[in-house]
Amino acid sequence: MNYRIALLKGDGIGPEITESAAAVLERIGTRFGHHFQFTTYLIGGCAIDALGEPLPAATVQGCLDSDSVLLGAVGGPKWDGMPGDKRPEKALLGIRSALGLYTNLRPAKLFPALRGASPLRAETVAAGFDLLIVRELTGGIYFGDRGYRTGKYGEEAYDTEAYSVTEIERIGHAAFRAAMQRSKRVVSVDKANVLETSRLWRRTMHRLAESYPEVEYSDLFVDNAAMQLVRNPRQFDVIVTSNMFGDILSDEASQLTGSIGMLASASLGDSTRGMYEPIHGSAPDIAGKNLANPIAAVLSAAMMLRYSFGLAAEADCIEQAVDRVLERGIRTADLVGNTGIVPVSCSDMTAAILSEISENTVTAQ
Ligand code: IPM
Ligand code: MG
Repeated sequence: MNYRIALLKGDGIGPEITESAAAVLERIGTRFGHHFQFTTYLIGGCAIDALGEPLPAATVQGCLDSDSVLLGAVGGPKWDGMPGDKRPEKALLGIRSALGLYTNLRPAKLFPALRGASPLRAETVAAGFDLLIVRELTGGIYFGDRGYRTGKYGEEAYDTEAYSVTEIERIGHAAFRAAMQRSKRVVSVDKANVLETSRLWRRTMHRLAESYPEVEYSDLFVDNAAMQLVRNPRQFDVIVTSNMFGDILSDEASQLTGSIGMLASASLGDSTRGMYEPIHGSAPDIAGKNLANPIAAVLSAAMMLRYSFGLAAEADCIEQAVDRVLERGIRTADLVGNTGIVPVSCSDMTAAILSEISENTVTAQ
């Protein structure tokens, strides 16, 4: 099969890690007989520099014309002073919205080899954990009305959160469907003791839960959820939550796996076209130094194979290659901690993953 992939490398370490992920897809193509055709488009700060805007129309069109989208990261100190609607981050929100990608899947799973890299106590992570954050991605406070006005104390800024029943239902269904493929447990996270949007969220989720009788459903307030995640991440299977809470909780969950450099994500809508990106940022401090951990980008490519193209064996092959590389003790700088291991570069990590893909047999999962 031939698959057209839009490559949005972005800024900072974005180019290095997306090139790693593209190399991994090419190697998968060689091994399994697929052809991946990449077309690169500008997004974020690099697009501002070249064309004066973070999300050029050609980028949106290129994504719409592709079978799927692989994104690196956007942003950096160079563009931090830009007004809100001209910032690189605006492009990320814009492309998610333009492609209708309202479901964001962020799996956080502890690789056995990285148990020692988790900041949690050994006994807490001894049995591992494997959770999935389902984050609403195109609504809520990140997309609400905002601006400046004169308030009680003079100039003030405001942001507003709105959620419709329709938006809550569609993300809710995505979470329940995901849970049916996993351990059949859903925790919905909100702040229903304070926020009206959360009360609507909770009522709607409770109604949906009735159509999934096999799924064990519960609610948590977001402050409690943040605490429960570090107390015992193993209690979670699927967490479904709003755009902002999902943004925050997924960074927290990522660190529990050892490094934010490990977490992949899939953004999905109603078609098979998705956008796949690591949850980490552009890491400007290490950009261009060949130090970045490409694993989150590589695992994002695996998610693309699984969710957009239905290529489960190929996705398993990538995930198992990463697992084996970690088992062999190969670590990028973010993963070494105080183990005394000498870290490898981004390109060496990529090469190690590529050779595992070529050489190893895939075991069914
Ligand atoms: C993420 C990022 C983005 C978000 C930023 C860069 C706009 O933090 O993907 O989690 O908030 O969605
Ligand atoms: Mg984030």
